[in-house]
Amino acid sequence: MQVKKAVVPVAGLGTRFLPATKVIPKEMLTVVDRPTIQYIVEEVVASGITEVVLVTASGKSAIEDHFDYSFELESFLAQKGKLDLLKEVRHISRLIDVVSVRQKEPLGLGHAVKVTRDVVGDHPFVVSLGDDLVDAGTPCVFQMLKVFEKYQEAVVAVQEVPDDQVDRYGIVEGEEVEEGVFKVHRMVEKPAVGTTRSNLAVIGRYILRPEIFDCLDRTLPGIGGEIQLTDALDILRKERGIYAYKFKGKRFDAGDKLGYLKATVNYAISHPSLGGPFLSYLRELLKNMDNKD
Ligand code: UTP
Repeated sequence: MQVKKAVVPVAGLGTRFLPATKVIPKEMLTVVDRPTIQYIVEEVVASGITEVVLVTASGKSAIEDHFDYSFELESFLAQKGKLDLLKEVRHISRLIDVVSVRQKEPLGLGHAVKVTRDVVGDHPFVVSLGDDLVDAGTPCVFQMLKVFEKYQEAVVAVQEVPDDQVDRYGIVEGEEVEEGVFKVHRMVEKPAVGTTRSNLAVIGRYILRPEIFDCLDRTLPGIGGEIQLTDALDILRKERGIYAYKFKGKRFDAGDKLGYLKATVNYAISHPSLGGPFLSYLRELLKNMDNKD
């Protein structure tokens, strides 16, 4: 079963990043030279996905516009001979087919996935969160698709987190069946510290089977009154099985102020033209701070 579609939910309110996100969607905040959402879409394109299903809400039209063709801008850049910029702009509008589905109320990530049912149809699909960045040599989604090809069951990406932070994540308990791949025995959303022995936290990348939609129909509002994808996944686990995959790469929660700053520094340092001068600046800054102490 080939996986061709990626659902990218971007309908959340982004309250952790207020006031920046009062008008601008957090997925449009720039990391170095591109909005966060472009990194997400480029990752799924590089993984072989051919259609992106954006789950949007009011105030998020800038995201759809970003991937749209802009006749005025392209003609202007062509007329002025600004060919490098024209190439960049064309690259974005030609990246991939994007369709949008509206989530009328932010009722949770599970609900955001549920509203894509008709567009996704009866096929396995990717879910990539619009504010979770993964910097990896081999795209994270591509790594996960390899695991899905082998086991043919849903795969969630996980990373180890400090024991005292398990209450911030969906946590997976399971048994390692091959290096970095776990057969999941239990999934629990934001467990209280000390109530689980696992520190494998789910991050914003999933390969799901279409059966998840029936599980979502049977999922009641959970933590925070929201329909939690983790709760639906735990139903799917009981009925079919789920695998967790410890991906290779660095993950940044760009929907959080500190996570966003870390992402910016990470991508700036490895940027082909800005990386060198930026690193020199950071070194200088740290040296001056040390001298002050
Ligand atoms: P988050 O919980 O990080 O997003 O959801 P949020 O609700 O926008 O953020 P805060 O906590 O208020 O700062 C992860 C992803 O799921 C989407 C968000 O847009 C984000 O990309 N999401 C979340 C939805 O699309 N719909 C929802 O109802 C909830």
